[in-house]
Amino acid sequence: MYQANENRYETMLYQRCGQSGLKLPRLSLGFWHNFGETADYAAARAMALTAFDLGITHFDLANNYGPRPGSAEVTLGRLLKEDLRPYRDELIISTKAGYTMWPGPYGDWGSRKYLLASLDQSLRRLGLDYVDIFYHHRPDPETPLEETMDALASAVRQGKALYVGLSNYSAADSSRAARLLEDRGIHCLIHQSRYNMFDRGIETDLLPLLEQEGIGCIAFSSLAQGLLTNRYFNGIPADSRAGSGSQFLKPGRVTAEALAKARQLDQLAQARGQSLSQMALAWNLRLKPLTSLIIGSSKPEQIKEDVAALNQLTFSAEELARIEEILA
Ligand SMILES: NC(=O)c1ccc[n+]([C@@H]2O[C@H](COP(=O)([O-])OP(=O)(O)OC[C@H]3O[C@@H](n4cnc5c(N)ncnc54)[C@H](OP(=O)(O)O)[C@@H]3O)[C@@H](O)[C@H]2O)c1
Repeated sequence: MYQANENRYETMLYQRCGQSGLKLPRLSLGFWHNFGETADYAAARAMALTAFDLGITHFDLANNYGPRPGSAEVTLGRLLKEDLRPYRDELIISTKAGYTMWPGPYGDWGSRKYLLASLDQSLRRLGLDYVDIFYHHRPDPETPLEETMDALASAVRQGKALYVGLSNYSAADSSRAARLLEDRGIHCLIHQSRYNMFDRGIETDLLPLLEQEGIGCIAFSSLAQGLLTNRYFNGIPADSRAGSGSQFLKPGRVTAEALAKARQLDQLAQARGQSLSQMALAWNLRLKPLTSLIIGSSKPEQIKEDVAALNQLTFSAEELARIEEILA
């Protein structure tokens, strides 16, 4: 019988999500890779429980995480049933709908029909009455935004989600969506998008908008799926994301240019007394509007290493300038 670490709240840092009352851990755990039915359940369990023992109270999922789509939610459902049920009120569990989930016109994009049916399916797989955060996973160019936001508002009114969020929406679409939600009496809690040293697209328009609107921001792929770690310094390991056939990080993405930058960054990280992954996470967290970073993982040791990034979050002006020089 799992007993959570008594000291789990002692070292994790928590930050209020935008202007809401909800605090999120600065690092959250994502179930995109390594939690589906093709992954080893014992390994998935070890990662989730290691994270919780370190104060990571937020698990991020989506209807389609697997493979097979849906199976990451089944994994968390089993964990909740067998280990984490006594801790449900200490957990923030999110899921999403927006990408292809089932055949035909009602299993994709942003219609009311798809979002609400998908949320019901997610709750069944998770074995929960409600999720804490329900996201629209990507903007739908065809469905009126009013309909999609109406579906998110319905999820809250039906008690199936406590909060709602947007993912992969542009600044302009986020602003419109937030207003439509406000019209329905609901504050948009959070926006989820990619952000890392190699992909800084949200810095100029999205982040300032979210701050102004009081919407929290949670970043994914802060480690560029592993490119901002030492994972590929000696080739492509067979058990790595790029080496194990993921369609999201093909070996061709491990380029000489990315590796050269990663090696220079690694030298700077070592001079700071950190690993490259720790410095990459700390660098993301220098931006105050970033409420949390969702880390991915394939082993509990990676989670331990990544959480230790919180021990050294400050950067000197020289270090920041050196990072800009390397990334230029
Ligand atoms: N909303 C969206 O559209 C969207 C899109 C993508 C992701 N997400 C969310 O964000 C989460 C994280 O995304 P991500 O997996 O791309 O994040 P990431 O943190 O950039 O990459 C995770 C990978 O980095 C490697 N890694 C992590 N810590 C390491 C360490 N200390 N040393 C060496 N390697 C390390 C591992 O690779 P190996 O597996 O090779 O060991 C791990 O699987 C997802 O699970 C999901 O919840 C959301």
